[in-house]
Parts: sequence; C-alpha cells; structure tokens
Amino acid sequence: MSAKDQDRLLGHAQDNDGIDEYDNALPTWWLGILWGSIAFAIVYVVDYHFVSDRSQVATYEAEVAAAPQASSASAAPLVITPEVLAAGKAVYDANCMACHGPELKGSVGPDLVDATWIHGGTLAQITETITKGVPEKGMLTWGPILGPEKVAQVAAFVHGAGGGQ
Ligand code: HEC
Repeated sequence: MSAKDQDRLLGHAQDNDGIDEYDNALPTWWLGILWGSIAFAIVYVVDYHFVSDRSQVATYEAEVAAAPQASSASAAPLVITPEVLAAGKAVYDANCMACHGPELKGSVGPDLVDATWIHGGTLAQITETITKGVPEKGMLTWGPILGPEKVAQVAAFVHGAGGGQ
C-alpha cells in the first residue's frame, strides 16, 4: 500500500473487523451512469405522461374503445358454403385425420360421425371443443394453432359429416 493510499483511508478499521474504507472520488464512468440515469428518467417521465401519453389509463381506454369491433369480427357468423366445407376437410386431413381417422370414425380420438358426443355435438360445442381442446386426453388446444377461421371451417366440416346435432 502506498503512502498516498494510506492518506486516503478513513481510518475506522478497528470498528469493522479490520476492514478499512478509502475516501476516493467516485469514478467518472460511475457518475456518468448516475447523472445519465437521472437525466433519462426526467425525459422519460415527461415523454411517457405528456408527449406520447402511454399511460395505462390511455391504453386501457383505447382497448375498450376498440373492443366492440374486435369481438364482432371474431363472432361474425360463418356462412356454411361448399367452399367452407372443402376448406374444413383440408384442415381436417392435415391436422385431425391421424387421431380421428380418414372417415372420421376415430382411432386414437373418438368417432366424430356417430351420435355419441363427449363434449356435445352442436356446432357451437364442436367449435368450443376444437378451440380449447382436451389437453389432458391428448386433444390439442387448436384455437391458437389454427386461428378462428380454420377452426370454424373444420368445425363446420365435422358437424356436417353426419354426427352433428
Ligand atoms: C393427437 C390426437 C388428436 C388430434 C390430432 C386431434 N384430436 Fe380431436 N380428440 C382427441 C381425443 C383423444 C379426444 C377425446 C377427448 C376426451 O376424451 O375428452 C378428441 C376429441 C375431439 C372432439 C370431441 C368429440 C366428442 O365426442 O365430444 C372433437 C370435435 C375433435 N376431437 C375434433 C378434432 C379436430 C377438428 C381436430 C383437428 C383440428 C382434432 N380433433 C385433432 C385426439 C385428437
């Protein structure tokens, strides 16, 4: 330890199990971070609240204002046309056939053309089952995988295939 360092010791080692403390100026980089953070915080607060107005209240109000549009879009009734059923069959063949069989008569998953339904055989119930799945039984939650349009198509196809109620 140089004499210079010695001079800057605060000299209370005896109070702290022999650990002494220097009294040095804070490094420039450290002060830079401190003052930089303070300056950033001021700019950020002004921008957040008054310039960009990104408050939670404003975000919430914008979402509430947009909500009726969003829900009416997803709840738009699907008109069942031959094209919709063909699209539904394509979705079925690509994603569902492995478990429900090429004729929808079931293998790993249950028969979808008999009159027996575990989760209900109306179009709304079938749509619900496909969207939410039965993950604990191996039926995936298809809603986020396929999206509402393909779910509606494949539900219409399954419902129209013979077992629908
Ligand atoms: C990995 C296998 C597997 C795949 C792939 C699969 N399912 Fe299923 N599915 C099942 C199983 C198992 C059940 C039975 C769930 C239960 O017992 O509650 C089921 C149940 C169902 C039911 C409810 C049947 C009832 O009796 O209520 C419908 C409808 C259905 N699946 C449609 C589909 C559609 C549409 C697809 C494709 C998007 C699909 N499944 C893909 C395994 C699968």
